[in-house]
This record gives sequence, structure tokens and C-alpha cells, in this order.
Amino acid sequence: MTSVAFIGLGVMGYPMAGHLAKTGHEITVYNRTESTATRWLHEYSGKSAQTPAAAATGADFVFVCVGNDDDVREVVLDTPGALAGMAPGSVLVDHTTASAALAEELFSAALDVGVGFIDAPVSGGEAGAKNGALTVMCGGEESVFAAAQPIMDRYARAVTLLGPAGSGQLTKMVNQVCIAGLLEGLSEGLELGRRCGLDLDRVIEVISQGAAGSWQMENRAHTMSRGEFDFGFALDWMRKDLQICLAQARSVGAPMPLTETVNGFYDELSADGMGQSDSSALIARLRDRE
Ligand SMILES: NC(=O)c1ccc[n+]([C@@H]2O[C@H](COP(=O)([O-])OP(=O)(O)OC[C@H]3O[C@@H](n4cnc5c(N)ncnc54)[C@H](OP(=O)(O)O)[C@@H]3O)[C@@H](O)[C@H]2O)c1
Repeated sequence: MTSVAFIGLGVMGYPMAGHLAKTGHEITVYNRTESTATRWLHEYSGKSAQTPAAAATGADFVFVCVGNDDDVREVVLDTPGALAGMAPGSVLVDHTTASAALAEELFSAALDVGVGFIDAPVSGGEAGAKNGALTVMCGGEESVFAAAQPIMDRYARAVTLLGPAGSGQLTKMVNQVCIAGLLEGLSEGLELGRRCGLDLDRVIEVISQGAAGSWQMENRAHTMSRGEFDFGFALDWMRKDLQICLAQARSVGAPMPLTETVNGFYDELSADGMGQSDSSALIARLRDRE
């Protein structure tokens, strides 16, 4: 039986680790706030550990899903981080959305102790994690990816290797840049329709069948038109992601006029106390301006 560890039982990690437990893996979880690990153990069978290193000890695969670069460094590299507990030949997979530079740093640190590393940020949100339907964008070596892919398949519908370490994070950046611009366009379109007196539910029903259709339109347009944002992907997470995208873009000279603008809109919303609202709350900024 494959032995796995899962570090970070947040909105995403909790159900992802649950899928691994349900499919018979021997699993040890670690969560900084212990009560969450206790709750998880009431729902699934497995063990919990007091530190990331203890969770990782003896595991063939260690999965991490925490917040940002510094959080990953804390649970992987700091004492007692996961890497300290990992044996040569085991594999570390980071599902956190983080920088490509961090992925390269972790790849080297893992290589130094004979551990394989895959950067593997995800897309699909809480629903994707719960339904085992995430998209996973991976960077790393082919043989290491081939070993880890069947396990990630338990909570994903697509797991793809895009290139060497960092390629998963770079692909996720492209994903986030596309979403940010799309959500602002969707917000402006819906707000135009509302101010013109159209029935937005009918508008969405029609245009989602045509060239304007998108995942965001299908999954967010109705809630946006009703002003409901108390769910989903917190816009403060999106701000974190766009900071990573903009820094990466600066480093390669890629122009980001729309992303810069939308990032500023998110900053405004966060300053107005909406940091935990879904990232589709961009439309609320337009309504405030009537
Ligand atoms: N939510 C989404 O829809 C979504 C979609 C795609 C990608 N992502 C990405 O996936 C990652 C996780 O997102 P999430 O929504 O699951 O976040 P979340 O609900 O806030 O959970 C974060 C998890 O990381 C742990 N953590 C954070 N900092 C830590 C530290 N310094 N040391 C130890 N543990 C730490 C937290 O522990 P505590 O319980 O102690 O706080 C919690 O278990 C993020 O990078 C996010 O951008 C999220």
C-alpha cells in the first residue's frame, strides 16, 4: 500500500486528502490548527502528526497545499519541515499556488537529499476539490511525474506535465491572468445589461451558448447578477496570485496592462473589506459607482 502524507487541510487540501483516504492510501495528515486535523480524522480514516516532518516520515509521497511562498517554505524547509522527514526516493508534490522561483528552489533542495519534486498548482476551486475534478498543472521530471500522477488522479480529472520544475506554476499564472481579465469583462457586460433594463438571467442563458460562453459565465454570472459573493475563491487569494503573475511578467518583459488594472480593482475591494468575497466580486465595484 502506498503511504502518503498531506500537509494543509484548508478549503482545498481537506477534500483532496479525503479522496486519498477514501481510495485506500495509508495517509498521515498535518494541519497547523490541530482542531481541523481532528475534524478530518472524524470524517476519514488515517493518522495525524504534530509536525510536517513527522507527517512526512515514512511517506512515499508528500502533498502540500498551504497559502503562499512563505507558508510553503515554513512547512517544507524550516525545522521541522517535511523535507527533513523524507527518505531518498520519495516524492514531494506542492499544490500551493506559488512562484516559479520557489518551485525551482524546492526542486534543488529536494534533489540534494534524493527526493523528487513536482510543482502542481490546481484549478477548479472548492467544488473541483470536493468532486475530485481538479485540473493539475505540473512541472518537474518525467519519471517523478509518472510516479505521482496516478495518486493525483484520485482528485483530478486532468493532471498534465508542462515542463521542468516551475512550469506548473507558470501555467497557473497564465490561467489566473486569463481569469482576471475575463471576470472584469463579464462584470462590465452584466452591469451594462442591468442598467439597460434587460432580464439578466435570460441574457446569460442566451449568450452562454455563443462565443461569449466560459466557465466563469456558466458558474459565476448568475451569482454576480444577484450580488452574491459569499463563497468560492477569495479575492485576497486572487490578489496574491496576481502579484506572483505581475512579478513574473516584469522579469520577462511581458506587458500586462489589463491585469495591472484589474489587480488595482481587487486592491480597492480588499481595502473595502471584501477580501474574503469570491473573485467575481469585481462587479460590486461597478455597482458602487451608480
Ligand atoms: N480555494 C480555492 O478555490 C483555490 C483554488 C485554486 C487554488 N487555490 C490555492 O490553493 C492554496 C490553498 O488554498 P485554500 O483555499 O485551501 O486555502 P485555506 O483554506 O486558507 O487553507 C490554507 C491551509 O494552509 C495552512 N497554512 C497556511 N499557512 C501555513 C503556515 N505558515 N504553516 C502551516 N500551515 C499553513 C492552513 O492552516 P490553518 O488551518 O492552521 O490556517 C490551511 O490548512 C492556495 O495557494 C490557493 O491560492 C485555492
